[in-house]
Amino acid sequence: MRELPEEALNVKVDSDFIKQAFLNIVLNGVQAMPAGGTLNIVARRDEDSVLIEIHDQGGGIPPDIQDKIFELYFTTKKEGSGIGLAQTYQIMQWHYGSVDFESQAGQGTTFRLRIPLAETLEGALKEVSARE
Ligand SMILES: Nc1ncnc2c1ncn2[C@@H]1O[C@H](COP(=O)(O)OP(=O)(O)OP(=O)(O)O)[C@@H](O)[C@H]1O
Ligand SMILES: [Mg+2]
Repeated sequence: MRELPEEALNVKVDSDFIKQAFLNIVLNGVQAMPAGGTLNIVARRDEDSVLIEIHDQGGGIPPDIQDKIFELYFTTKKEGSGIGLAQTYQIMQWHYGSVDFESQAGQGTTFRLRIPLAETLEGALKEVSARE
């Protein structure tokens, strides 16, 4: 299921990297629902950024591992490498964006990816260089 905004939201990204960042989250969502379910992806404008929410109906992320999932090589999967989320985190940093999540046992997980809008980012970078 996809819901996309009517207005065009301009962001300046390396599209291969951003695709990879999203794919890692989507794959995790699919893998979290081995018996099937709905993966819901919503994109909208939130203040000065584009907010993309990816929600799965899997078992959720247990509280005791929630602070580890972005660590490189952390995995709970038999065939997992633990690279996916570490890579997504890094890619979002490169784009002055962010990634976080909310998860409750039995209610699945929502990952939130944020990318600053192009005009906002340009303004912010100009301001930084003016201060230097
Ligand atoms: N949507 C999710 N639902 C439940 N657990 C998740 C979800 N996304 C991530 N996790 C947990 O976080 C861990 C780390 O995820 P990450 O994508 O970095 O590695 P991986 O999926 O195990 O391996 P890789 O992505 O490299 O194939 C997973 O092993 C899993 O325990
Ligand atoms: Mg993964």
